[in-house]
Amino acid sequence: MQTKMTTMFGIEYPIFAFSHCRDVVAAVSKAGGMGVFGVSALLPEDLETDLAWLDRELQGRPYGVDLVVPESEGKDLESLKAEIPEAHKRFVAQLGERFGVPERRSGRAGREFGKGTWGPKLAAEQWQVALNHKVAAVVSALGPLPPSIVEAARANNIRVGGMSGAPEHARRHVAGGAEFVIAQGTEAGGHTGDVSTFVLVPQVVDAVGPVPVLAAGGVGTGRQLAAALALGAEGVWTGSIWLTSNESSLHPRAVEKLLAASSFDTVRSRARTGKPLRQLKTAWNQAWEAEGAPKPLPAPYQRALVYEQMQSIEEHGVAEPIGSAVGQIVGTMNERRPAARIMRRLVEEYAEVADQLRATINTHLGD
Ligand SMILES: Cc1cc2nc3c(=O)[nH]c(=O)nc-3n(C[C@H](O)[C@H](O)[C@H](O)COP(=O)(O)O)c2cc1C
Repeated sequence: MQTKMTTMFGIEYPIFAFSHCRDVVAAVSKAGGMGVFGVSALLPEDLETDLAWLDRELQGRPYGVDLVVPESEGKDLESLKAEIPEAHKRFVAQLGERFGVPERRSGRAGREFGKGTWGPKLAAEQWQVALNHKVAAVVSALGPLPPSIVEAARANNIRVGGMSGAPEHARRHVAGGAEFVIAQGTEAGGHTGDVSTFVLVPQVVDAVGPVPVLAAGGVGTGRQLAAALALGAEGVWTGSIWLTSNESSLHPRAVEKLLAASSFDTVRSRARTGKPLRQLKTAWNQAWEAEGAPKPLPAPYQRALVYEQMQSIEEHGVAEPIGSAVGQIVGTMNERRPAARIMRRLVEEYAEVADQLRATINTHLGD
């Protein structure tokens, strides 16, 4: 398969995989696509270890990093917590008791959170680490990257991309130096906007063309890959489908739930971060929807409020409240498979669909 995006990175298939798990990133890049490592939550020292590992594993095959670079420095965990209403704190404590959430094991929340998973300072440190490795792309999860990062990327032959949920976001990314953009529909896992992939992608293609666009949100089969190309995308950007791959580091209890879930089992809830985040429906996020529950606080307060509880739930695999950010495509993720097999099936099914489409077109045009 050849598109502008395969040419840009010298890869076989225009299939990009966002993951917080380095094993998934490596497996997808080895299988002919391109893994992009979500590094927002990593401390620089941990990122250094992971990127050194990826360089060794991939032996020159390309991979990318996805950065979260907020405009201003966030407050640390303790300062945010001090401003949170007592009623919210009581509600979270009650949830902890109701679900039997134990203390966290690692106990370094202050450092992880306070160094700002969410501040420009941490992002700058992460970027300095990335520059010392064989990163082929840097993607901004928020708005355009600061000019200093774009310039350094150019100087180091690293291509710049940006996530968008609206044509205007995509235009801003391109004005800020992005060489490709991702158009992410509301059905995607993670933070999403309101417009579906099917409606959004052609609008973003029209807004920024000839800059290449990747379609994101709801891609898990070769049929969806073919549809994305028909919409004018130069490839797809996937996230959810790797969560149930063999390489995924998600807790096995969360994986089980994802494998059993249907496309009706996700919810866009503000309970985790204060912003609408598509995730698996769980007893935990449903508790925030119940009558009498407090309204989730705005970002970053909500995340500060629930951060340690969420970390503990995920670390210990607490059965009832555990879940994950995931998109509506979860309804077709029914089997645990190696990432390479997921890639192969996407490509094979794409080839089958392309043949069918060719036959249909020939029939209509009388050959
Ligand atoms: C568990 C999870 C975490 C995510 N975290 C981020 C993130 O940190 N940065 C980002 O740019 N996108 C993030 N996303 C969104 C993905 O980059 C991607 O756009 C999305 O998963 C595509 O839709 P899909 O889930 O239907 O494949 C996340 C998605 C998931 C499922």
